[in-house]
Amino acid sequence: MTAKTEKLLAILKAQPVVPVLIVDDAKSAVPLARALVAGGLKAIEITMRTPAALDAIRAVAAEVEGANVGAGTILSAKDWDAAVAAGSTFIVSPGVTRGILDAANASDVPILPGAATASEVMALREEGVEVMKFFPAEQAGGAAYLKALSSPLAGTLFCPTGGVSLKNAKDYLSLPNVVCVGGSWVAPKELVAAGDWAGITRLASEAAALKA
Ligand code: 3PG
Repeated sequence: MTAKTEKLLAILKAQPVVPVLIVDDAKSAVPLARALVAGGLKAIEITMRTPAALDAIRAVAAEVEGANVGAGTILSAKDWDAAVAAGSTFIVSPGVTRGILDAANASDVPILPGAATASEVMALREEGVEVMKFFPAEQAGGAAYLKALSSPLAGTLFCPTGGVSLKNAKDYLSLPNVVCVGGSWVAPKELVAAGDWAGITRLASEAAALKA
């Protein structure tokens, strides 16, 4: 296992759930991340889907003690460079391109690239990737599908994301090839808009207590 994979696993194994955030207002990012960290979720993925994303990553990286902020929805090498410059400690992409893999190989920051089929997993294995995001998890076939990949593609670990919630997280966490799950349910839009940080800490604690 490479040092970068070990770095990624150390981040992902620290908690059963990685919150996936779409931040509309960069000002909410710091209290939101603090609320998640207080609940036990230190690795936080901020998706690059809003104009506020880079400012949000920068603010969390600089101001939230204990947080490991990663960038999600990386679609190009340009996104990679911007996310890393903002302070991301890991990078998540829904799929992968040659440009992203080249950026990843030239960087010290670990990548969690998306894959949804046996061929996509095999192609990433050829690139030396050992840990992947299984995306979109529920829509692609759910826990039963991922379980079916565990024997032929043994040695690859996954963070299933997409349609994962408190209801089905354990179905994934109990699989031998799952290291953690990702999900947006721990930071509902309404609670963020209301500034209900205590409510988010409660959801985070509930998620952090999930076991296989
Ligand atoms: C996403 O792409 O938005 C993430 O995979 C999170 O999915 P979710 O909102 O279904 O948890």
